[in-house]
Amino acid sequence: MNTIGRLFRVSVLGESHGPAVGCLIDGCPPGLALSPGTLEADLGRRRAGSLSGGSGGGAGGSAATARHEADEPEIISGVYGGKTTGTPILILFRNADTISSDYEAFRDSPRPGHADFTGKVRYRGFADPRGGGHFSGRLTVGLVAAGAVAKLLLPGCRFETRLAEVGGQPWPGPADTSRGSALDAAMAAGDSVGGVVEVRVSGLPAGLGEPFFGSVESLVSEAVFAVPGIRGIEFGDGFAAARMRGSEHNDPFVGRDGATPRNGAGGVNGGVTNGNDLVFRAAVKPTSTIAAAQSTLDFSTGKMARLEGKGRHDACIAFRAAVAIEAASAIALADLALIARSYDAASGGKA
Ligand SMILES: Cc1cc2nc3c(=O)[nH]c(=O)nc-3n(C[C@H](O)[C@H](O)[C@H](O)COP(=O)(O)O)c2cc1C
Repeated sequence: MNTIGRLFRVSVLGESHGPAVGCLIDGCPPGLALSPGTLEADLGRRRAGSLSGGSGGGAGGSAATARHEADEPEIISGVYGGKTTGTPILILFRNADTISSDYEAFRDSPRPGHADFTGKVRYRGFADPRGGGHFSGRLTVGLVAAGAVAKLLLPGCRFETRLAEVGGQPWPGPADTSRGSALDAAMAAGDSVGGVVEVRVSGLPAGLGEPFFGSVESLVSEAVFAVPGIRGIEFGDGFAAARMRGSEHNDPFVGRDGATPRNGAGGVNGGVTNGNDLVFRAAVKPTSTIAAAQSTLDFSTGKMARLEGKGRHDACIAFRAAVAIEAASAIALADLALIARSYDAASGGKA
């Protein structure tokens, strides 16, 4: 079903133009300090479509959607007196800034690349189509909130997330932008671009994860692919490892704690964290809904039709996806941290 996690279980819920979106978290231990303020730093990063050290727009305008939501979390359950109770935590965000009429055309003529068609098939024609319904990037606000709660279970960890590429160019680009960026060029043409987001997690203990099913890479990937628009993920040297020699890709040990000066494995060997930083990069596709004309099938007539995207859409979703990607990884890592604690408790803490 639409839930992730073994001990720390998360569902995201809602529709883009329904009354609210949010998350439901089950399995969070009691006694953790949690208030709307705990979530604010990450929600703020997502709201602005910005990253620390990056910017959300090119010279030609903002890359982020013109939809403005306050994104004020309402913690409906699972918290009492400012502390988690251990019962399910429901966090909601009311939707306010919706213009559903922009999506009428997509009922019969699904947008290429979007989930209009698959949502209709999967939910037997009953899916809410407004604003992309349950498939909307708006749902990532719940993911970000759940990620902020997950980070409470990872107290020694530090997450550093950056946009590495936008439209095939390094980001941020060189100070001299006179030649224009791929993002600006795409926006001027009513088109969109993708991006690459890099996440680095330091402070993870060695020994999290399982060798086969439940490897750190597979659990993090499962979570990251929950972010709409992800097209790929690589850890450490990633796909470049396939073109390296063993002598280049191996990480020679220099410390008894497993420390290695280089980190080609991205912090994981055999599915288990090795004590180095967990490093992964996620490929984010270009936004599906574009103003430039595209062809699609009109399902009501069976004839090909021209489609020009209406509505308010990010020209590059990677800006706002970045914090959601980080949050998704935190959810997977929190689950692994809880599993490790239960192993330790069962073994009396003896290795
Ligand atoms: C933060 C965020 C914002 C998004 N905004 C838009 C958008 O404005 N327009 C759009 O067409 N898709 C947007 N998307 C992507 C769609 O949600 C996604 O394309 C759709 O669910 C299908 O993608 P998939 O096949 O990769 O799952 C956004 C995704 C994210 C993560």
